[in-house]
This record gives sequence, C-alpha cells and structure tokens, in this order.
Amino acid sequence: MNQAACAIRRINENEIDNVVNINRECLPENYSRFFFTQMYKAFPQYFLIAEDKGEIAGYIMARTELSPTFLKFIKKLHIISIAVLPKHRRRGIATGLMETVEERAVKQGVEKIFLEVRVTNYPAIQLYKKLGYKITNILKGYYRDGEDAYLMEKEINPEKNLDHAMDARQTEIKEPTNAYLV
Ligand code: ACO
Repeated sequence: MNQAACAIRRINENEIDNVVNINRECLPENYSRFFFTQMYKAFPQYFLIAEDKGEIAGYIMARTELSPTFLKFIKKLHIISIAVLPKHRRRGIATGLMETVEERAVKQGVEKIFLEVRVTNYPAIQLYKKLGYKITNILKGYYRDGEDAYLMEKEINPEKNLDHAMDARQTEIKEPTNAYLV
C-alpha cells in the first residue's frame, strides 16, 4: 500500500455518514445507516477506515459470531462489508484493511474468517483469493436482486495466551446480515 499517504484506523461516530455514502457509491447491496451505527457500537475494533490526506478512501466492517460445530462453538469473524472509492483502488488499501482486521481477530481467538461475495464480483474474489480465502459454498439467491453469493472462508490459527475474554461479551449468534440489506 501507499502507506505514506494512507492511515488505517477505527472509524469515529461522526464519520458513519461518509461510510454509508461510500457503501452506496461502490456496492449494489446497501445497509441502513442504523445497521452501520449498530455495528459501530457493538464492534468498533472491526469497523475501520482508510484515510488519505483527510479523505476517507475506504472502509471495512466486520463482527465476531459464535458458530456451533460438532464438538464446540468456534469464534468466527464475519466480514460484512468492504469498499474502496474508485480513485483509490489498486493501491493495496483493501488488502491493508483486511489484514488489519485479521490481525485483531487472531489476537481475540477467532478461528475462521468468512464473507459473502457476489459470484460476478471478480475484483473482490481475486482480492480474497490473494489473501488466502477459499470458496466453500454457493449461497443461492443471497442478494435481494436474486444474485448468488460465494461463501469464502479462511482458517486461521489462534495464537496462545490471548485475551479471549476481551470481546466475549460482543460475541453471539446473529441473524444473517443479508436480512439488513435495504
Ligand atoms: N481486477 C482484478 N483483481 C483485482 C482487482 C481488479 N479490478 N482489484 C483488486 N484485485 C485483486 C488483485 O489481486 C490485487 O492485487 P494486485 O493489485 O497486486 O494485482 C488485490 O486484489 C489487492 O488489491 P487492493 O489494491 O488491496 O484492493 P482495492 O483497494 O483496490 O479494493 C475492492 C478492492 C474492495 C474489491 C474494490 O475494488 C472495491 O471497493 N470494489 C467495490 C466494492 C466491493 O466489491 N466490495 C466487496 C464486496 S464483498 C464484501 O463486502 C464482503
């Protein structure tokens, strides 16, 4: 990334409108401002922006979820939305945002990261593949316009001696995020 010009940091509440606008400009699937605000309040450590000379160039929003497996519940990180403004693309900004949330997730005991992406969204699929994500399922008619999504997942090895309790209160099973698309 052009690190000299771009900083990745947590979003402030007064910047949520900017992110709502970036989401509307960059993606056909949009969440309500209310949903962005809920995510900001519940998972501030996973709601990040990339700032370039005072301009918000992109954002990432994710949350932790508990998922039942045969023997136990595992903690997963769900990348809900990421976008970079067109003029800032191909500078490694999305990579930086993804890597930053991944680093935080590893420290908080997350064992798997997953996301949904439109089957036609070639740039995003390439980005995720480059970062080690694999397509594990097709979610038929996931989007409101009927398009299918790929489920993409990445296993991560949680490090030992982590403060798993840190975000335990924020971790619970939630409704699917496509329920919040407007
Ligand atoms: N075509 C092919 N590969 C691409 C493209 C593209 N247009 N864009 C990124 N990639 C791949 C490449 O492998 C690239 O590495 P390289 O530049 O060394 O070849 C790699 O991704 C990393 O690219 P970045 O520069 O880190 O990505 P960028 O900051 O440009 O953002 C993003 C990528 C987020 C997909 C951007 O194009 C975007 O905002 N698109 C619209 C919104 C969107 O589709 N968001 C994802 C929806 S799914 C979800 O939110 C869970």
